[in-house]
Amino acid sequence: MLDTLGRPLKDLRISVTDRCNMRCAYCMPKEVFGPDYAFLPQKELLSFEEIERVARLFVQLGVSKLRLTGGEPLLRKGLPDLVARLSALEGVEDIALTTNGLLLPQLARPLKEAGLKRVTISLDALDDETFGRMNGLNIKVERVLQGIQAAEEAGFELIKINSVIKKSENLHAVLDLAEHFRGTPHTLRFIEFMDVGNHNHWDMKDVLPSRDILALIHDKHPLEPVNPNYKGEVAKRYRYTDGQGEIGFISSVTDAFCGTCSRARISSDGQIYTCLFGTFGYDLKTPLRAGETDDQLLERIAKLWSLRADRYSEERAVKPRDQKIEMSRIGG
Ligand code: GTP
Ligand code: 5AD
Ligand code: SF4
Ligand code: SF4
Repeated sequence: MLDTLGRPLKDLRISVTDRCNMRCAYCMPKEVFGPDYAFLPQKELLSFEEIERVARLFVQLGVSKLRLTGGEPLLRKGLPDLVARLSALEGVEDIALTTNGLLLPQLARPLKEAGLKRVTISLDALDDETFGRMNGLNIKVERVLQGIQAAEEAGFELIKINSVIKKSENLHAVLDLAEHFRGTPHTLRFIEFMDVGNHNHWDMKDVLPSRDILALIHDKHPLEPVNPNYKGEVAKRYRYTDGQGEIGFISSVTDAFCGTCSRARISSDGQIYTCLFGTFGYDLKTPLRAGETDDQLLERIAKLWSLRADRYSEERAVKPRDQKIEMSRIGG
């Protein structure tokens, strides 16, 4: 099944909640996502049964890779039960989770036991002052490091660490982070600051291009490129020439990767987005709850994908959009 640009549907990213226990300014600035912010009411969220059904339908259409996201997915009660259901689906080859790590000390083990294969943990700096400011709530670095440790102890291999770099905020963290994770089995990935959502005051001037980050690190610790793990891998991979591990770069702004984008996303209230920067979702929840058959739902999804023409990151410079889905609804 291919979209209008010849791209197959291979990944489904499932947001399980729009809430988060951090307030990163580039994602959920606390001035906007304050105490009065209207998060989705419980009854609007897809139940685990509904998510399982949706995932099964996507798998029938070619998806083999699932990723659970949020907001912060670990805030969704009973998440290991969902993982167990999803990992039992035939055709699912990979189930991963993107988290801020705060709840991993409690949840890493049950998630591993339920069949979760991989975790990716976000961390933007190693000094409390910078990290506390960036996460909006003065949460300390140690809490995330404890989450990473919990993931290691639970037996997760290939843990990835995601760091968003903003020139004005955490340029100095680039080397700190690289040196901290050098020599560990974890892969650190730098993400260019993106214009997701409508509230993060994105400015190109604040984007530190991946090539500059690469140069900063390469200068001290020489790096060489590594071939992608699979076609369409989001991160460009590099390894330290002295064998001290690998890092990656996600360059959605300066080197867009829409050409190979095989990702669909579903929000926790059952709207399908065929691009991270979409304005409207496609409402799957209503027909799902109205009792449509699998075949009817499959037809809807197949049709949606076959009409897909999204390539926002390639168009951003000439066609920036001002109404976009919030990252906290769609999980990155
Ligand atoms: P694996 O390769 O399976 O480990 O996962 P991944 O790198 O695709 O997933 P992850 O959630 O770690 O992605 C890292 C970040 O890259 C996301 O949080 C987004 O910020 C960004 N990203 C992922 N997919 C896309 C995409 O399709 N478009 C854009 N513009 N950014 C993306
Ligand atoms: N630009 C780049 N990455 C972002 N993320 C959230 N908001 C942005 C943004 N504006 C990343 C987080 C996390 C993942 C969920 O998305 O750091 O790794
Ligand atoms: Fe929460 Fe992740 Fe968004 Fe930060 S980036 S506010 S941790 S969902
Ligand atoms: Fe895919 Fe949209 Fe990201 Fe391009 S901008 S890679 S189409 S999600």
